[in-house]
Amino acid sequence: MKIQVWDKVVRVCHWGMVILLPLCWWSGEQGEMEWHQSFAYLLLALLMTRLFWGLFGSETARFSQFVRGPRQVFDYLKSWKQQRDPHPGHNPAGAYMVVVMLTLLLTQLVSGLFATDDILTEGPLYSYVSSDTASWLTWLHKQNFNLILAAVGLHLTALLVYRLKGTPLVAAMITGYRRGGAEAPKMVTTTPAWLVLLVLMAGLGWGLIWPLW
Ligand code: HEM
Repeated sequence: MKIQVWDKVVRVCHWGMVILLPLCWWSGEQGEMEWHQSFAYLLLALLMTRLFWGLFGSETARFSQFVRGPRQVFDYLKSWKQQRDPHPGHNPAGAYMVVVMLTLLLTQLVSGLFATDDILTEGPLYSYVSSDTASWLTWLHKQNFNLILAAVGLHLTALLVYRLKGTPLVAAMITGYRRGGAEAPKMVTTTPAWLVLLVLMAGLGWGLIWPLW
């Protein structure tokens, strides 16, 4: 039987991040700073949307539902070999990886708001901090990216290990559905929540539009 495990918001945010993160890196490397900022604003919009959805979204998206205590993580890892991932959403160990990735992305984007390349480009909040703080946040912006790369590497390795173990996860992140005997999680798509999402996206998405003018 197929059950829905990921709603549209989770999937759009996930694949949006997968597209925008390399674009941010590429535009930064090329010195295309207007595009770098635009892609970063869009990524920030997606991240804010995902964080909002982590509080008010569907069951598998909500942090309170999938972040469990260390004991449950330990129990999950202990019995890992026997089970074929009965969790309809994130498993207890994977949940911590999700929190780490979202925190690293947030750190990257927030530090970028205060960063400077000491030539032409400054983040929009650069002038609100001292030059020492801005230098430190610029350093953090560069170093943190290496941590993101390490986390993504670990993320992809974990997906491969699950695949080899006979649990394909990628298709579910594309279609939203996966095969499973587990009870189907509750998916919510209430109108007010969608409206807030749209406002968030529109408010921050201006970043892509202004350089095109
Ligand atoms: C830029 C690189 C990536 C980042 C930053 C990233 C980040 C994330 C995050 C934050 C989640 C948690 C989803 C949520 O609850 O919102 C997640 C889950 C997931 N990601 Fe990625 N991801 C990346 C690349 C990929 C790629 C390339 C694939 C596929 C080949 C992939 C497949 C998945 C799958 C299948 C899950 C669900 C795992 C589960 O069942 O618990 N990700 N990813």
